[in-house]
Amino acid sequence: MEIKLELLPPEKRRKLDLEGDLPFGCIFTDHMFLMYYQEGKGWYDAQIKPYEPICLDPAATVFHYSQTIFEGLKAYYGVDGRIRLFRPERNMARMNYSAKRMCMPAIDKEFALHAIKTLVDLEKGWIPKEIGSALYIRPVLMGTEAFLGVKPSSEYIFFIILSPVGAYYKEGFNPIKIYVTDKYVRAVPGGVGDVKTGGNYAASLMASEEAAKLGYTQVLWLDAIERRYVEEVGTMNIFFYFEDELVTPALTGTILPGITRESVIQMAKDWGLKVNERRITIDEVIEGAETGRLKECFGTGTAAVISPVGYLAYKGKEYVINQGQTGPLAQRLFEELTGIQYGEKPDPYGWIQFVP
Ligand code: COI
Repeated sequence: MEIKLELLPPEKRRKLDLEGDLPFGCIFTDHMFLMYYQEGKGWYDAQIKPYEPICLDPAATVFHYSQTIFEGLKAYYGVDGRIRLFRPERNMARMNYSAKRMCMPAIDKEFALHAIKTLVDLEKGWIPKEIGSALYIRPVLMGTEAFLGVKPSSEYIFFIILSPVGAYYKEGFNPIKIYVTDKYVRAVPGGVGDVKTGGNYAASLMASEEAAKLGYTQVLWLDAIERRYVEEVGTMNIFFYFEDELVTPALTGTILPGITRESVIQMAKDWGLKVNERRITIDEVIEGAETGRLKECFGTGTAAVISPVGYLAYKGKEYVINQGQTGPLAQRLFEELTGIQYGEKPDPYGWIQFVP
């Protein structure tokens, strides 16, 4: 399929100052990608056009039953002036995994990646040049059929928007404070916790609001059955570094299979660390924080990158990890990962794809 281009004349394109601290996800570039799907016809009308509101029927499936999924990846402006994407094929694979679980049509992964590269190349002037900033890429697939019965939509749109961003958390790369909730749960076995669907994020809002009121940046979720096993943070996966072991919760179906998570596991293993994907109880974490056996805790995600966790609140008590400081492992992972992403370091894994 060809991508039809309808571009703004140069004098209508905005020129923003992208230096300094950029907020996350508030600014959008001049153009977007869009294509449509109809049962029996397949995907059609792929186009890049000026960024504008999408007009949908008020009865569209997505508005009522949340048949929607998304992805998040970034384009990095390298130190050599080249534009890099980090493992975008993993995002496309995950998008199709999510689509299958939500009874949505698959996208052609190669074509979607071509659409991303074409759009990013066209909007390359929007990629912030500062290390730590990037152009966030948000592909979305949603059901658009006007029908109020509960069944998979027969019509869909797939779109991609771009947003120049800085750090996701206001703390930047500094340690954040996390609230462990045993009141709310994020996902249940057999549910959609491992799917990047909007409803998971909507369901997390109340816990996040309550945690924010108490001064915490994010919520750490426990498993829904026993409320004992650590799961993830919602905006990132979580890692615990004990004396001789780096642990992250195993992918049991209730946790998002993060691409940064996967990359961190690979790097840490290659550095000779003992890395275990296993179940981990909140009691083990708290005991580690109390005895000092827990050396570091950090989150991983596309938006969050590597986010050290300096404080954990659980059952009314706050626990300090590594004196509330960024630990050497989080620091090394951050430097290695961003080094690869910004072209400051070699890419031994072949994780980078260039634009164009
Ligand atoms: C990402 O890291 O790209 C995410 O999708 C998390 C997000 C909800 C900001």
